[in-house]
Amino acid sequence: MNKPDFDTLHPYVRQYSDLGTGPVPVMPVVSPEYFERERETIFKKMWLNLGRVEDIPNPGDYVVRDIAILKASIILVRGDDDQVRAFHNVCRHRGNQLVQGSGNAKGFSCGFHGWTYDTQGQCVFVPDEEVFFNLDRSQTGLSPVRCETFAGFVFVTVNPSAVPLVEYLGGFGQQIGDFPFQTMQRMHTLKADVNCNWKVFIDAFQESYHGRFVHRLTAAAAGCVDDDPYAHLTSVRLYGPHRSASVPFNPEYQPTPAEALSFKYAQSLWLHEGNAGAQRVPGTNPAGHPNWLFDINVCFPNFFVDVSSSWFFTYHFWPVAVDRTHWEYNFYMLPPQNAGERISREYSKLYLRDLLREDLSTVETTQAGLSSGAIEHMILSDQEVAVRHQYKVVDDMVNGRWVG
Ligand code: FES
Ligand SMILES: [Fe+2]
Repeated sequence: MNKPDFDTLHPYVRQYSDLGTGPVPVMPVVSPEYFERERETIFKKMWLNLGRVEDIPNPGDYVVRDIAILKASIILVRGDDDQVRAFHNVCRHRGNQLVQGSGNAKGFSCGFHGWTYDTQGQCVFVPDEEVFFNLDRSQTGLSPVRCETFAGFVFVTVNPSAVPLVEYLGGFGQQIGDFPFQTMQRMHTLKADVNCNWKVFIDAFQESYHGRFVHRLTAAAAGCVDDDPYAHLTSVRLYGPHRSASVPFNPEYQPTPAEALSFKYAQSLWLHEGNAGAQRVPGTNPAGHPNWLFDINVCFPNFFVDVSSSWFFTYHFWPVAVDRTHWEYNFYMLPPQNAGERISREYSKLYLRDLLREDLSTVETTQAGLSSGAIEHMILSDQEVAVRHQYKVVDDMVNGRWVG
């Protein structure tokens, strides 16, 4: 068999030649100073996803998000007028935080001195108001945070001069925007606090190179085949700071007996374009690859929305410190219509849970290795173009080179 030529083996260096091919420095994942610059130049500047509109479906529903990297606590609330808004969780009197957790409320009353705000952020009651000085309650509403939605995803930014969300998402938004997110229901949530840098954590989920090793006991066989033993990405798209990569499916894959039983009742976790009867779902498989499994979609800086034909999941990577990250995972599928579908969904849910445990098994050991100072660079292949892209975008932003 002829050895494939250089271009065949390195499609992405040709497609995105400005990323280069050199080693990538370790410093950005171990330097506390760099982390502080990321806070100011990235997290305080970009749009950040805080969930979906279905998280607060009814007027008065609210959820508080404490965002360490912003040093802020933000209330997302659906107002009486059905509009979703975001406010700093800070009382306008003397700054006490108003509320924690989530729930449904007519408004928020501060536990310190009772100042009260309605669900649209207006200050509606100040105890002993007369003893203040020319107090104008119309000027003492909660401090708003810019909040916009896209395809049901709620984003905020603390940057008053950020471009509108749809412009920020650009081609990335156009790629995923028509996916039927709203038809699916959250089936599972996992959270973890992990000792690693947020970028190292993200890297573990934006290449398929690790599949044959980390997932050797689970999903490797669904992607790796004899003539593609490392499950090469079938296509990659970079959209400004965002990125998307498609993962292949092994058309000769033989489900295990448990999988076969589960998939008898409902759509397979591994449903792909090649399955008989599979529908092409909008917002998926943009390159139309016949053996497609799912798309890895990374919304810069810290949000994933990975899509397949019958499910999607999200990851949030919230930086806490240079070597500490809070991670959240939410898995969504069509609501089950009968007991068989429920069994199938449950199987898929637990299958992905086990896969994620495998993924998480490497991130702390990777960070420990990088933090040891033993190596100064990481060596990346063409298949790790998304990893390379992340470091380039971050470094351009941190050093004021980013234009876009
Ligand atoms: S700090 Fe909130 S009422 Fe005083
Ligand atoms: Fe993985």
